[in-house]
Amino acid sequence: MSPEFRIPKQDINNEPFMTSPPLYNRKTIVMRTDKVYKCEIINIIELTSMEKLFHLKILDPEERRIFFFRPGQFVMLEVPGYGEFPISISSSTGNKDFIELCIRKAGRATNIIHRARTGARVGIRGPFGTSFPMEEMKGHNVLLIAGGLGLAPLRAPIFWVNEHRDEYKDVHILYGTKDPSQMLFTYQYEEWQRVNHINLMTIVEKPDAAWKGPAGLITELFKHITIEPHHTYAIICGPPVMFKFVCSHLDSLGIPMNRMFVSLERRMHCGMGKCCRCMVGSTFTCVEGPVFDYWSVMNLKEAI
Ligand SMILES: Cc1cc2nc3c(=O)[nH]c(=O)nc-3n(C[C@H](O)[C@H](O)[C@H](O)COP(=O)(O)OP(=O)(O)OC[C@H]3O[C@@H](n4cnc5c(N)ncnc54)[C@H](O)[C@@H]3O)c2cc1C
Ligand code: FES
Repeated sequence: MSPEFRIPKQDINNEPFMTSPPLYNRKTIVMRTDKVYKCEIINIIELTSMEKLFHLKILDPEERRIFFFRPGQFVMLEVPGYGEFPISISSSTGNKDFIELCIRKAGRATNIIHRARTGARVGIRGPFGTSFPMEEMKGHNVLLIAGGLGLAPLRAPIFWVNEHRDEYKDVHILYGTKDPSQMLFTYQYEEWQRVNHINLMTIVEKPDAAWKGPAGLITELFKHITIEPHHTYAIICGPPVMFKFVCSHLDSLGIPMNRMFVSLERRMHCGMGKCCRCMVGSTFTCVEGPVFDYWSVMNLKEAI
């Protein structure tokens, strides 16, 4: 059978897990204890050849109203019949109409969701995990640093800062990708800079002929900003190798390690501290993370 993602509305409503959780595949125990929100994909934006942004509307109006998350948290996205995987919430906490998820094609389930059309139905569980300490950061400068797909989890704190702009001092977004074609959310850059007075700097490792910005690794961008180390918080999202370089650079500039926050992504299964799939040492990254301060990560063996 073709792996085409075709789930007409009536099919998903007949899925056994929607009415009888214990019958549904391997996640029986989790389904008994956790809620699945039925959602409809109401919009799909192609960001690059590998990433799409999905707008998901929770079908039940009351559930939609009470669904609440904090920047940095994630959901488990269920593609009925194909599997479930963790995805950071990329939207504004204030958006009560729909949830945004930016998904990269990685393997089986993510490839299937990339074939979805608007109107298809999926399930989400969550939100799960820890979040960025947006309240604690108030009154300080904020550095938001992302590499590649890392801009997806960073987008919720960016929305937050934009919506509470008066409560933060200087805000810088530093974003780096391998090449210009991999840049995400380019359509929002002007708004972030002009409307929200955020200093956005981008860099690519391999520039093309049209690229006018700097080339190199993201740490190059630190040369262009002035940092007050004791009045600055940093959020870093990207591949683990980037954490090491960026955090040690910020450390050398004097930013305390407990004011740098990273999002640690491990393979996950239940998302709620039951299956041990996500463990690093004795730490459950799904419930004690994914957001950690760098000091904690430094002391977590094999974390990065
Ligand atoms: C807390 C959290 C937040 C995440 N947020 C996002 C997001 O916003 N957008 C997004 O596109 N992806 C995100 N991911 C990664 C996403 O969960 C994986 O890409 C997805 O599970 C792959 O599922 P699959 O069935 O398509 O791939 P599989 O067929 O299971 O695996 C395909 C490949 O992907 C790799 N992979 C699987 N899971 C992960 C993982 N957790 N981290 C890194 N590599 C993995 C595998 O090693 C394999 O090489 C997040 C992961 C976590 C833990
Ligand atoms: S994903 Fe199951 S315990 Fe963390």
